[in-house]
Amino acid sequence: MKVLLIGGGGREHALGWKIAQSPLLSKLYVDPGNPGLNHIGGPVASVEPVDLASHRTIVAFAQENDVDLVVVGPEAPLSEGLGNKLRAAGIACFGPDRDAARLETSKSFMKEICATVGAPTAAFGKFTDASAAKAFLRDQTAPYVIKADGLAAGKGVVIAESLSEADAAIDDMLGGRFGEASAEIVIEEFMEGEEASFFAITDGETILPMIAAQDHKRAFDGDKGPNTGGMGAYSPAPIFTNKVRTKTMETIIEPVVAELARRQTPYVGVLYAGLMIKNGAPRLVEFNARFGDPECQIMMRLLKSDFLPILHSAATGALKGLSLEWSNEAGALVVMAAQGYPGAYEKGSVIQGLDAANAANGVVVFHAGTKLAGDVLRANGGRVLNVTATGGDIREAINRAYVGVDAIDWPDGFYRRDIGWRALEALR
Ligand code: AMP
Ligand code: GLY
Repeated sequence: MKVLLIGGGGREHALGWKIAQSPLLSKLYVDPGNPGLNHIGGPVASVEPVDLASHRTIVAFAQENDVDLVVVGPEAPLSEGLGNKLRAAGIACFGPDRDAARLETSKSFMKEICATVGAPTAAFGKFTDASAAKAFLRDQTAPYVIKADGLAAGKGVVIAESLSEADAAIDDMLGGRFGEASAEIVIEEFMEGEEASFFAITDGETILPMIAAQDHKRAFDGDKGPNTGGMGAYSPAPIFTNKVRTKTMETIIEPVVAELARRQTPYVGVLYAGLMIKNGAPRLVEFNARFGDPECQIMMRLLKSDFLPILHSAATGALKGLSLEWSNEAGALVVMAAQGYPGAYEKGSVIQGLDAANAANGVVVFHAGTKLAGDVLRANGGRVLNVTATGGDIREAINRAYVGVDAIDWPDGFYRRDIGWRALEALR
């Protein structure tokens, strides 16, 4: 089978690493991929990097090269309709059409679907007018949750402790802070609890639940500092019990997937539910139309099944009767980021020690933002490396991940030393 994988972060390195292990794979094209996937990790012989500038060139490339499956990593191409164009050309695509991806790209669409099927989520109001928004706020209690309706690169959520801070966020967003994405805003009830990310794969009808993971959004130890794309992750998540899984499937994932099918916009791909869990009851914080990054990297380490036939079957409406087999080990991941991230940071510093890290027990390092210059590996992004490890339990997985981190020589990087602290506390 020939596969084209779109994207070049840690998530796509992990997806490519897993796909490349499939005996069914004859060729993996990656656009653009990254040094870890394309040059220095995994069975490189079957991987070929390509540089396809537009959706049109992606479709043409897939046709000319008899690509059997396109796997789309990030949300942006999905929100721009890459899935629609590929399917219209008769090419199987893992990733939803633009309309179904609105579960991620429009908060008010997500809320409307949840209301239709009764899926548990925060109460909300949506506004294009600042004075109406502010009037609504005055009937709520702090903290106030204000969100841009559209995609805002993970920066479109403000949790304000005071009314004045909330008013300022409303003026800022409706004043054009995120352009079209914040022309409409959503104000939500604040939900208490513990967060977890849960994933399910669907062909639009049949749903295969995956596993849950927890990530660490804040930059520094003790969950302090600015919000980031995620500084680490681990699975299993102690909070995500079997009971929570069943409730999540029955009250959120299954009815939402069925509702999209009923509307003739079936959801094809992976549905990522960001959950707030309190007293065993999950409520939906957000949907994403893609795998979580870095959660995906952990799942690829723990998935025992051949993933390629699953991805292909999801893209071709053939998931019925298939299942996923998981390792009973635990997985942990530490993100190494450039100093300054998520603010301004330098690119180009030299990274060494990856071979030693990859040789450590249970460790696989995925590249998130690196660049090869000759033989020298350099930092080329905010989140730069994902050091993953598996182990017999979560403690062993975390300890092994830090052995990998300690083997890496990159003075310009930083990382959190407390990844998985909640899971370790749950062991006590
Ligand atoms: P989102 O982009 O919608 O996932 O929001 C980013 C983060 O803000 C989430 O991961 C939560 O930590 C927090 N958050 C968003 N909405 C709420 C809410 N209604 N109640 C509590 N926390 C929230
Ligand atoms: N790790 C959070 C995300 O992928 O959105």
